Amino acid sequence: MSVSVAPARGPAPYSPGLLRRIVTPFVDPGVFDFWVGKLNPAWSWDRPLARVVERRVEALDTVTLVLKPNGHCTGFVPGQHLNVTAEVNGRRTTRSYSLIDVPRRDGRVAITVKRVAHGTLSTHLCQHLRVGDVLELGPAFGAMTLPAQPQGPWLFLAAGSGITPLMSLTRSLAKQGMPVDLTVIYWAKTRAELCFARELRQLAVKFPRFKLQFVLEKEAQLLAGEEAGLISHEQLVRIVGDLSSQQTYACGPAGFVDAARALTAGKVRSFLAEGFTPSAPLSVADAETATVHVHLARSGRDLEIPTNLSILDALEAQGLKPKVGCRMGVCHTCVCTRTSGTTLDMQTGEQDAQPDMDVRICMSRARTDLSLDL
Ligand SMILES: Cc1cc2nc3c(=O)[nH]c(=O)nc-3n(C[C@H](O)[C@H](O)[C@H](O)COP(=O)(O)OP(=O)(O)OC[C@H]3O[C@@H](n4cnc5c(N)ncnc54)[C@H](O)[C@@H]3O)c2cc1C
Ligand code: FES
Repeated sequence: MSVSVAPARGPAPYSPGLLRRIVTPFVDPGVFDFWVGKLNPAWSWDRPLARVVERRVEALDTVTLVLKPNGHCTGFVPGQHLNVTAEVNGRRTTRSYSLIDVPRRDGRVAITVKRVAHGTLSTHLCQHLRVGDVLELGPAFGAMTLPAQPQGPWLFLAAGSGITPLMSLTRSLAKQGMPVDLTVIYWAKTRAELCFARELRQLAVKFPRFKLQFVLEKEAQLLAGEEAGLISHEQLVRIVGDLSSQQTYACGPAGFVDAARALTAGKVRSFLAEGFTPSAPLSVADAETATVHVHLARSGRDLEIPTNLSILDALEAQGLKPKVGCRMGVCHTCVCTRTSGTTLDMQTGEQDAQPDMDVRICMSRARTDLSLDL
């Protein structure tokens, strides 16, 4: 069976095709949304919104939210994530969350959110969001997906909330009858923080081709199927056996993903990772702090910004609100065209001065005067 792209469409009460095309020139979407929002906050002229229809505690400090999208939301492929926006303390706040299920017939989607200490959106989603509340969703994106007809052994390495996209992929393989050998190794601090533990155990019993190993870093007493320790090459070899044929996906905090990449480099068939936290910021540019001039072509604004901040942080510090998502270089929501000037990529440390190139302003610092299509 192939991995399908879901229709993922909920009701579209205000998308009546021909009628919509006729009335479009006369409609102000903001005014429309204001009035229909009083009837149903998930209705909108063109914004992809989703209502929370179920909220359940998944693990310690972690909730799963089942969402019913309106007609403007698009489909997804297992393993992908999307940007979720909510108003927190009067500010629109956007972060990326992975979809944990396979596409469903009723178009509902689910995310599992772990509360990060002092985290803006995760705290709001875990502690304050209620059934009936509405979130804005961006389109699904991400390359950590499976081929239409998966072959060969797969190895999923998950740490903490990094289990979410790998759970979606595991469910997708289970739905296909587990056509490949799959090993999931899932690190958490304690048993109470494991998500989907019961379902994963049941799948491991049901499918002989599915091997599961929980690794708990801070649990005093271990049960069957659990072991202790941080990720190591010795541990991977012991659990997996021959690494050389494994197609490997790793997901979790940046430190975990970096360790997994280093430990498997040159030893596995393929490796793809998704970090849920930003990698350590570069410090090189800090030594050379200066102020440069930035011209924002679309809005016609000119400002001075420092070179020791990301362009995004620098613009926000001056009251501007560019489009933003993950703030860690993953979602590409903040991308804009740099028409002239030099920027420094904070992840690679490389400078680039080619005109008319796309830059992620959350991960770029200015090195010279710039002109941006913003
Ligand atoms: C592609 C992608 C998919 C993601 N999928 C999920 C998911 O399915 N479930 C999920 O719970 N999270 C997921 N995340 C992380 C999520 O986007 C947020 O970063 C996280 O919820 C924290 O946001 P916040 O607004 O609460 O914290 P912020 O207010 O942005 O940050 C507060 C502090 O916490 C630190 N921090 C930020 N993120 C994390 C984190 N993940 N772990 C530990 N510390 C952090 C920051 O450095 C900062 O110091 C994903 C991230 C990416 C990039
Ligand atoms: S905000 Fe996601 S890449 Fe910049």
